[in-house]
Amino acid sequence: MADKLAKLEMDGKTYEYPVLEGSTGPDVIDIRKLYAQTGLFTFDPGFTSTASCESALTYIDGDEGVLLHRGYPIGQLAEHSSFMEVSYLLLNGELPSKQQLDDFTYTITRHTMLHEQLMTFYRGFRRDAHPMAVMCGVVGALSAFYHDSTDISDPEHRKISSHRLIAKMPTIAAMAYKYSVGQPFIYPDNSLSYTGNFLRMTFGVPAEPYEVIPAVERAMDRIFILHADHEQNASTSTVRLAGSSGANPFACIAAGIACLWGPAHGGANEAALNMLKEIGTPDRIPHYIERAKDKNDPFRLMGFGHRVYKNYDPRATVMQKTVREVFDALKVNDPLFETALRLEEIALSDPYFIEKKLFPNVDFYSGIILSAIGFPTTMFTALFALARTVGWVAQWNEMISDPAQKIGRPRQLYTGPTQRDYVPLSQR
Ligand code: ACO
Repeated sequence: MADKLAKLEMDGKTYEYPVLEGSTGPDVIDIRKLYAQTGLFTFDPGFTSTASCESALTYIDGDEGVLLHRGYPIGQLAEHSSFMEVSYLLLNGELPSKQQLDDFTYTITRHTMLHEQLMTFYRGFRRDAHPMAVMCGVVGALSAFYHDSTDISDPEHRKISSHRLIAKMPTIAAMAYKYSVGQPFIYPDNSLSYTGNFLRMTFGVPAEPYEVIPAVERAMDRIFILHADHEQNASTSTVRLAGSSGANPFACIAAGIACLWGPAHGGANEAALNMLKEIGTPDRIPHYIERAKDKNDPFRLMGFGHRVYKNYDPRATVMQKTVREVFDALKVNDPLFETALRLEEIALSDPYFIEKKLFPNVDFYSGIILSAIGFPTTMFTALFALARTVGWVAQWNEMISDPAQKIGRPRQLYTGPTQRDYVPLSQR
């Protein structure tokens, strides 16, 4: 029995609902019996006040700008950890010992190759296909190649398919890129790190050796860490909803990729860099700030604002720092970075953005770094999908292992016509 109860009074009757406490964060009113008791649904489009599940993976305090994975602050993980270690942490709940990390890295490394027949699958796409279109298709197709690990009731199958997804995603993303530029696919090299291997598969060519630049490898790895998980965001909720029907994990992750593609979600990094290019120089910023504030103009500052963060996105802080590191390592300097810094400064001192608590999010600076490393804008969201796969897989596993798991099936407020009789075509 819960200590606290929420009371609902209606038509002279009082209904009581338990208030459940998490380990931190807002309590939730458990309304699971609401419909059975009252005949009413709740109405919450966009889930602004609805917890869709219980989860022990990631915690966000949007007002304070806090993001924790299994309790560890994202800033500490970005500074001291690696993407492989964070992946292990998200999947298993604790930081690994040296041996556990070595074993995990070894397993992931040995799953990086794709079934050779998948190469022909790639060739079915148009040359100019967006990499996210290729990612949706190829990841969905994995279930046709790896059906030996799709029994979701078997924990061993779930583990193997999770490892396959995390391991193969860099190969899939790199091949999507290679196909779009007409270069030969580069096979994985098991002597490299997860991230170094991805860089080589993306930028290497068979004609000459490829040398991974350690500072770039580190920056890329950090970008992967920053995107690894973000609790019940749109794409993760999509993965959970798809998985709640018992769909296989490859199909679920393909659904997550499709959702991530949208410009209000993962597609914002591409949109943010395109916006910075359109703005160009700092003197043009005031015009765009005015446009963003104009209700009659659909223009929004891309890479700004967040459903949960009403403070600086802690990932944007790390991202901003990483821009300078990458510029130093590559000895480049993109003037768009100055434009971005100035845009942030102007927006954060503007009453519109202050009042609505709109701050830079993870996508505001990531495009500048990725562009400096050499990725075309069309690859940005594909990289996000690559990194978020670990979060999707961890959340999917958590859901499937939960004995209380049910198929996700929201209700609705129906506003269409009530029952009426069919009118034959000749009488209409
Ligand atoms: N520029 C200008 N105004 C904005 C912006 C923005 N980027 N974001 C929100 N607003 C305004 C809205 O117009 C709205 O104003 P109103 O209350 O006067 O109508 C108010 O702030 C609240 O905005 P909503 O869209 O209702 O907030 P919501 O939580 O639904 O949306 C979202 C969050 C989608 C991220 C939004 O801020 C946005 O579109 N940002 C730009 C796209 C972006 O950067 N997305 C990446 C998110 S992070 C990620 O997915 C990894």
